[in-house]
Amino acid sequence: MTVNSNLFQSDFESSAMTNEEIINKRRVINGFDDGLMQASPLKHPWAREIFKKMQKNNWVAEEIPFQTDYEQWTSNKLSEAEKNAFIRALAFASNLDGLLTKTLSELIKPNITSPEVCLAIARQVYEEALHVDSYSCMIEALSFNPEEVYGLYRKDKKLYYKNRTVLKSVSKIAVPGFKTGTFETDQLFLEACTTNLILEGIFFYSAFLIFYNLGKNNKMPGSKEMIQFINRDEDLHVALFVNIINSIKEEQPELWTEDLKALITQNVKDSVQMEHEWGVSCIGDGILGLTPQNIKEYIEFIGDTRLQSIGLKKIWNTANPFPWIDEHTQGNMIEVNFFEGRVKEYQTGTLEW
Ligand SMILES: [Fe+2]
Ligand SMILES: [Fe+2]
Repeated sequence: MTVNSNLFQSDFESSAMTNEEIINKRRVINGFDDGLMQASPLKHPWAREIFKKMQKNNWVAEEIPFQTDYEQWTSNKLSEAEKNAFIRALAFASNLDGLLTKTLSELIKPNITSPEVCLAIARQVYEEALHVDSYSCMIEALSFNPEEVYGLYRKDKKLYYKNRTVLKSVSKIAVPGFKTGTFETDQLFLEACTTNLILEGIFFYSAFLIFYNLGKNNKMPGSKEMIQFINRDEDLHVALFVNIINSIKEEQPELWTEDLKALITQNVKDSVQMEHEWGVSCIGDGILGLTPQNIKEYIEFIGDTRLQSIGLKKIWNTANPFPWIDEHTQGNMIEVNFFEGRVKEYQTGTLEW
């Protein structure tokens, strides 16, 4: 009897697959997938490695002290311009993490056929939910009106347009019944993965800069610490998607056409410009050493890094104007004892606290 199920093979076959067959049939997309998550032997060891690093990065928002932040916010230690930058950075970051929780689980993960890659994305979805929760803890601890943060896009045109661009960029594969398996849908999916890289690897970076610069000036230290945790998670999300993109390219090289490369390069270019404009709208003429010019340089530097990571040519060749921030953004924060080193202390699963 044939069982009508997508879960695993519909008929009993008395034969085991060899490890070689399992590996040969495994692909990031369009591979053999019985839905039972046989994550060993591994075809994509980088995914297991990233998953293990993610497991070591456990943290919860309740561990972060917001008392100083609350006192500073309510005693006017921050200028109006600094407060404005803080709220805008928080508004966009919380909007984007909310969106990512949904798109990763509903649009990206259903098309992935490698169990070990699915494991890492499942953990990533949890971490996006953790980020969503941490913003709400921050908003409550600082006694903000939630609508003034989450709903800022309803009354702020610049934020509305940025959110709309983000939504538009993910909508190409947000069509009912979307499925990889043809040249066209596979290319769309590959493009969607690069869009995700842009969302997580470029669009957070003005916000991160603002929180770090406030923190460097001893302002809102709890908030800065929370962003460090989030940034550490995001570094691994970026690493995961760089590997997903490069593996799909390797497994289906026909997808990586000159047209697609040009389209992705243009997407990165447009995103860098948008992120720069957004950053400027947050800081105005400048706050605490942040200027429209050095935000531009920093976002261009980040854009070049993302292009290179997926085998595309750099555009700007701009030097990083904030070398002190390097260790937050280059993916090796686990080993780096930065600032007060508290992030390192929060790692579990290791005796080297
Ligand atoms: Fe996130
Ligand atoms: Fe993320």
